[in-house]
Amino acid sequence: MNLSHSDPCLTPRPVRDSQSDMAEIVLPNDANPLGALLGGRLMHWIDLAGALAAHRHSRHYVVTAAIDHLDFLFPVHVGDLVILRSSVNRAFHTSMEIGVKVWVENYIANEAHHVSSAYLTFVAVDPNGMHVPVAAVIPETEEERRRYEDAARRRQSRHAELERRRKLVP
Ligand SMILES: CC(C)(COP(=O)(O)OP(=O)(O)OC[C@H]1O[C@@H](n2cnc3c(N)ncnc32)[C@H](O)[C@@H]1OP(=O)(O)O)[C@@H](O)C(=O)NCCC(=O)NCCS
Repeated sequence: MNLSHSDPCLTPRPVRDSQSDMAEIVLPNDANPLGALLGGRLMHWIDLAGALAAHRHSRHYVVTAAIDHLDFLFPVHVGDLVILRSSVNRAFHTSMEIGVKVWVENYIANEAHHVSSAYLTFVAVDPNGMHVPVAAVIPETEEERRRYEDAARRRQSRHAELERRRKLVP
């Protein structure tokens, strides 16, 4: 298979090329009066972590088009270390689905817990805000191939839901 392309931005790239890690220590300003991390702050970090992988993969500016359903599975407190790992699950035409997995590590208690997982859609744009095509992603591992296949199914349901909501708007 010849993977070369006249535009280097469009050369297909493996998931590992843009996989990104972000770490945050929860400080009092990130928390509610009981010392628990604010959900909105975690959403902000998830958005940033997702944008990292999308930007690295597309080599363009990106905007968040959608964030799917989010669950907060485990409470996070001031002093905890939050790790966010983002990967491009699949690139479509101008958009990409990014998966972000979040976990918390507490070295004093010697514990790690899965906190949240999210799927985000980013659209690549040029400096004028016009959508631009993105390179295909090459899934290499079994897990990456599963996420790649699932991403197409999720995109279909997202589009169906968008269509349904558009019809509701008078
Ligand atoms: C997201 C945005 C770029 C889509 O632009 P648009 O002209 O309405 O969308 P189009 O129909 O041309 O679709 C462009 C791509 O976005 C995808 N897309 C658009 N809306 C989407 C949504 N709600 N969920 C998932 N994907 C979406 C389309 O599937 C398409 O992907 P493809 O090119 O890979 O097939 C535009 O709505 C926008 O700029 N929104 C604001 C983004 C922003 O400011 N985000 C920060 C949070 S406020």
